[in-house]
Amino acid sequence: MSATARKTAPLPDDIRAQKGGTPIVSLTAYTTPMAELMDAHCDFVLVGDSVGMVLHGLPSTLGVTMEMMILHGQAVKRGLRQAMMVMDMPFGSYEESPEQAFRNAARLMAETGAGAVKLEGGVGMAQTIAFLVARGIPVMAHIGLTPQSINTLGGYKVQGRGAARAQLLADAEAVAEAGAFAVVLEKVPESLADEITKAVPIPTIGIGASAGCDGQVLVVDDMLGLFTKFKPKFVKRYASLGEQAEAAVAAYAAEVRSRAFPAPEHVFADTAPESKP
Ligand code: KIV
Repeated sequence: MSATARKTAPLPDDIRAQKGGTPIVSLTAYTTPMAELMDAHCDFVLVGDSVGMVLHGLPSTLGVTMEMMILHGQAVKRGLRQAMMVMDMPFGSYEESPEQAFRNAARLMAETGAGAVKLEGGVGMAQTIAFLVARGIPVMAHIGLTPQSINTLGGYKVQGRGAARAQLLADAEAVAEAGAFAVVLEKVPESLADEITKAVPIPTIGIGASAGCDGQVLVVDDMLGLFTKFKPKFVKRYASLGEQAEAAVAAYAAEVRSRAFPAPEHVFADTAPESKP
């Protein structure tokens, strides 16, 4: 069913059922107004840990905390009626043990009303994914470029080229087998994304992957041209809102300095105008 025709948010099983069908649409959101804008157009909205870089000016996602995620998750949830909300598990909140992952995933879901959590990792996280799923927590996996591991991956490089191809395929198969309802493929070669999409029974959500994936996700501030510090090749800018915002601020500053703002229509008289019959 298209996002616009839907009255209530899909469940993880509905997203899973979209495998091979109409592509799944997703964007990140961190605030209520942005969530409201995208609600009718997205199947799911991801409260990504990219919030740390995009809204908080952090150099990477590593400094994002559970408290930050919960606050932004609550804000996004208030703006959603039709789209499912997926919460990213921040760095350090799930890697230690399946029990730690369960505690924090349960907290994210209970305190934000999310429909699912997302965590980074393939074969190494399969046991944790199975543990969460068995305890009622739907999990979206995230493999390929996993930004929480940039220090071991050696930066924001394309993953799965050459000898690493087989490992990435094994990661996709492992998370699907563990019970993930979908898997994000970030920054992987197009042919590998297509191979994984054919190989696994769950939807693949591409970001820097392939149009052949079962769905796509982008960071909303990237595609709106609001976050312009980096411009990864996989980002398409659908608007230049950052430039428009800066031009508006410059116009406001000039009008304040020239006393053109506020104009007569923005100020109040001593007495209220007579009310018309
Ligand atoms: O944190 C994030 O925004 C993400 C994606 C865009 C996949 O994980």
